[in-house]
Amino acid sequence: MSDTSNTPVHEEDHTGPIKTPKQLLLAVLYSFVVPIFVIIGLVYYVTSANKPQAGSVNLEQSVTARIQKVGTVEIRDANRPMKTGEQVFQAQCTACHTAGVAGAPKIGDVAAWAPRIKTGYDTLLNSALKGKNAMGAQSGGDFDDFEIARAVVYLANAGGGKFAEPVKPVPVAK
Ligand code: HEC
Repeated sequence: MSDTSNTPVHEEDHTGPIKTPKQLLLAVLYSFVVPIFVIIGLVYYVTSANKPQAGSVNLEQSVTARIQKVGTVEIRDANRPMKTGEQVFQAQCTACHTAGVAGAPKIGDVAAWAPRIKTGYDTLLNSALKGKNAMGAQSGGDFDDFEIARAVVYLANAGGGKFAEPVKPVPVAK
């Protein structure tokens, strides 16, 4: 009845656009091979994004960067605002001197500091800059020796010392 009359239309629905082996081959090519190339292209695009475009780099800068020797000299600004003793202490000394790590005299511990303060400011400063027993040299880090000196005074005075605030030495041209 109506079933038989519908059959041809029905069949036509199921035969898609692919009718010959050549079309099948093309369909395979477009659905599998082309996306792979698109992906490869995208990967190239993404990874090349942080490479500078040709002609957009400062030639002099890039050449010096390439031919520079291993290791650089960092020039610190000697005229930057100096940190206070307390700031230096909080940044570099507190790790040992607050809890008394490795036998470090605790900040504010008058009994521990009294005999050390007696040895004089220069001795204490020298110990801090160059290191003493379990304390490594505090010089040569992020802070200027003058800032370490301020921290020594801050630390010693908290333990009963009466050292004067160090005076910033006039920078010597090297
Ligand atoms: C790694 C832990 C550690 C750090 C960090 C540290 N110290 Fe010490 N410090 C010690 C120890 C331990 C001693 C005791 C050394 C000794 O007399 O044997 C000490 C002793 C001292 C003394 C007394 C030295 C003397 O001659 O008796 C001073 C002053 C001092 N520290 C200052 C500082 C300052 C200022 C800083 C931060 C810039 C600092 N320390 C950071 C561990 C530390």
